[in-house]
Amino acid sequence: MSNIITMIAPVNIAVIKYWGKRNEELILPLNDSVSVTLNANVMCAKTTVCVSPNFLEDEIWLNGAKESFTNQRLQNCLKEIKSRAAVERSVDDIFLTWKVHICSENNFPTAAGLASSAAGYACLVSALAKAYKIKSDVSSIARLGSGSACRSVYGGFVRWHAGVESDGSDSIAVQIANKSHWPEMSALILVVGDTQKKISSSKGMKLSVETSDLFQFRVQNCVPKRVEEICKAITTKDFVKFAEITMKDSNQFHAICLDSYPPITYMTDTSYKIIEMIHKYNNIHPKIKIAYTFDAGPNACLYLLEEEVPKILSLIQHIFPTSTPDKFITGLPIQHEKI
Ligand code: DP6
Repeated sequence: MSNIITMIAPVNIAVIKYWGKRNEELILPLNDSVSVTLNANVMCAKTTVCVSPNFLEDEIWLNGAKESFTNQRLQNCLKEIKSRAAVERSVDDIFLTWKVHICSENNFPTAAGLASSAAGYACLVSALAKAYKIKSDVSSIARLGSGSACRSVYGGFVRWHAGVESDGSDSIAVQIANKSHWPEMSALILVVGDTQKKISSSKGMKLSVETSDLFQFRVQNCVPKRVEEICKAITTKDFVKFAEITMKDSNQFHAICLDSYPPITYMTDTSYKIIEMIHKYNNIHPKIKIAYTFDAGPNACLYLLEEEVPKILSLIQHIFPTSTPDKFITGLPIQHEKI
């Protein structure tokens, strides 16, 4: 007898960035963040979990390679799932003593600043929650794996409330609007590089909290206002406002990285060339048509309305012909997704 569950989970790309923790172990952020969940058809994580009395150990395979199960974050997720199952009495007690095998894969570069841990942990936790028949909110369990993962539990537009409680009970993700609310919204992922980032998000944000003078200013004076404004822009479908805040927040996040000591640089010359291209394009139009945002890596996520997609695709191909040595589409085609 065993219980096998397979799930897929999408990537989410923040428009107001989460950067900095108030509690490292519980993964509690210092600021609210807002993201858009992409369509799972193109970029997603896929996880199968199997709980069986025949297994001797908990084991995990990531993208085909066996990994150690000693990873603390992984253990914390499994522990929380089991304690919720015990409280909710969703499965028999004997089930909680069985071992679990987990097999997870991404169909896009891992740890290249493409939110792979977000999709990965959201998927893992959703699959475990289904196997253990958990009914309560799973975003707070996904958060224990990787902060940004809590937002991938929902589709559409999502806000992760930082919360104030020390046990993290109010640090949860909430859907602002589902994807059918703004069906014209599209995302283009420009894969500039698919190598692992030099410094992980976890280490990078810790360094920023400890050393950046601009960091506190961002958290106290900028993010709260931006979060309210972008939530309003989403509910009223105000693309110009949405795009302006998205770009400003991405730029501020990378400015904080540069203000960290030693400085952290995630973007490359090609990333800056993309920024320049977008501003030039926006400037020749009466209204902003397209927004960029960069996570902890050189790859761009462009948000735009669907009618702009063909124009932007031909502009990109004109400015970055794939034949140049500075190819920015490495391994993956440009991913066009209707969210
Ligand atoms: C720049 O969620 O990867 O993508 O919680 O330490 O696992 P940990 O960090 P992670 O950080 C994501 C940072 C970001 C911004 C964002 O997604 O909000």
